[in-house]
Amino acid sequence: MTGDLFATDQNEPWAESIGEGTVWLHGFACASANALMTAIAGIARQAPFRQMTTPGGFLMSAAMTNCGRLGWVTDRTGYRYSEVDPETGHPWPAMPECLMALATSAAREAGYTGFVPDACLINRYLPGSRMSLHQDKNEEDYSAPIVSVSLGLPMIFQFGGLTRKDKPARLPLNHGDVVVWGGVDRLRYHGVSPLKPGHHELVGECRINLTFRKAGA
Ligand code: SIN
Ligand code: FE2
Repeated sequence: MTGDLFATDQNEPWAESIGEGTVWLHGFACASANALMTAIAGIARQAPFRQMTTPGGFLMSAAMTNCGRLGWVTDRTGYRYSEVDPETGHPWPAMPECLMALATSAAREAGYTGFVPDACLINRYLPGSRMSLHQDKNEEDYSAPIVSVSLGLPMIFQFGGLTRKDKPARLPLNHGDVVVWGGVDRLRYHGVSPLKPGHHELVGECRINLTFRKAGA
């Protein structure tokens, strides 16, 4: 095989623009994955993963918890951000420094300087878990991007347009990939196809997603 001077080394992180305000940072979180998983385990000890109920009365298929000043919750009364974990009545665990650092550096890499998230929703998907197409719009304002980090099993991320009718692109996200969307893309529909079973050496039989947001004013 002749060497290709311009071939990308698949072990090196690389950035792919997939929309005017959207960047797919392949492998960006690989180097910090160990520290992230340790931090997530600590969060889950204080605020355990739980399946929440939608306003329509359905159980979300992903199990969730949060860290940071605000946490995203849903129950029969609606979707919202809350300063306390409704299960314990306590504030959510503080956002660990390694999560904060990853979120700000990924945002900067995608062209969003000065991103300071106050909320991180942590989703855990087991085989068969999915998330239907939705927009992230419970935040106070949409000037900050969304930073989404994937850990563990690979999955298909559906990335649609600004209306529900727009056919979503299907992006195969791997362990360590980060997708950042903001600006004109901030309200694009997105979702997750049902997770396929498998085993990941660090994360196990699941996929963990972190979504960092600036939720409050
Ligand atoms: C979300 O939209 O909150 C999660 C998306 C994902 O799990 O990739
Ligand atoms: Fe979302």
